[in-house]
Amino acid sequence: MMLALCAGCGGGEESASSGDSGSKDGKQITIGYSQLGAESEWRTAQTESIKQAAKDAGINLQFSDAQQKQENQIKAIRSFIAQGVDLIAFTPIVETGWDTVLKEAKDAGIPVVIVDRDAKVSDDLYVAKIGTDSVAEGRKAFEWVDQYMKEQNKTPRGGGDQYQIAVLEGTVGASVSLGRSKGFNEAMQAAEDGSKYTIAMSQTGEFTRQKGQEVMESFLKSGGRDTIDILFSQNDDMALGAIQAIEAAGLQPGKDIVIVSVDGVKGAFQAMIDGKSNCTVECNPLQGPLLMETAKKILNGEQVDKMVYMDEGVFPAEVAEKTLPERKY
Ligand code: AHR
Repeated sequence: MMLALCAGCGGGEESASSGDSGSKDGKQITIGYSQLGAESEWRTAQTESIKQAAKDAGINLQFSDAQQKQENQIKAIRSFIAQGVDLIAFTPIVETGWDTVLKEAKDAGIPVVIVDRDAKVSDDLYVAKIGTDSVAEGRKAFEWVDQYMKEQNKTPRGGGDQYQIAVLEGTVGASVSLGRSKGFNEAMQAAEDGSKYTIAMSQTGEFTRQKGQEVMESFLKSGGRDTIDILFSQNDDMALGAIQAIEAAGLQPGKDIVIVSVDGVKGAFQAMIDGKSNCTVECNPLQGPLLMETAKKILNGEQVDKMVYMDEGVFPAEVAEKTLPERKY
């Protein structure tokens, strides 16, 4: 395995390869991958999956970490074009603003694969998307909440006849934040008893534990301490931060406030085992093997699906103890 730093790209860039197979016309394949950053436990698992899969496939991976800045991702993609990599893959931090740089990749004849999050670009600017269905994740989160609240038959904490929901949103403008909000809200509107719920507070926690804690603290201080029934956190890391804020406010997370989050990382399973969270909706980060397989097919001139979603489940607290040992991230 070879590791080398590479100049001229946005964020930190490194190259990793094992030196076996993964070839096109007898030459080792090089993929330039622009990762958006390292904001969560989930993101770490996704980065690891991509690096390991490249190594296993004998593909030379030029990896660039954009440190949460779209401009760094654009710089990295331009650097990959200048280097003449065989294929470019990237995880767009936000949905919009990619047309110009992807046209440059197209003009250079370099195929592009969009990974994990979505980008709003025309179909001719990418060959394939590999990702997760964020609208379905939001819908599953609401459906689980609705079922649970029916079973528990709780009285709304703030009085009245509506359950008050607080939402910790992800990165502003990210497809997964928009999709999870859309899925959750649409499921709430479509539910038979959807009028029993109201979204009382909603703010971005930027997908980080620290910001999740800070925003939850401010929700609790601005009246939420006595009124919030449900927390929908758009990722597990923010929920783990929020749990600390809820405990510091003298409440019991998972009991006084029902918590559903998205990702399915080990930390969320442990929180459920500890009785501090109630459900995690899976968003599968193990995207590396599919990315490498797709890249090889594209470079061999084979047909690939334009959009492939990863398999994802829903894990409520009652299965956490049994499931945690099997979790890979
Ligand atoms: O794009 C996937 C999301 O980004 C994950 O839910 C979150 O944890 C990550 O930071």
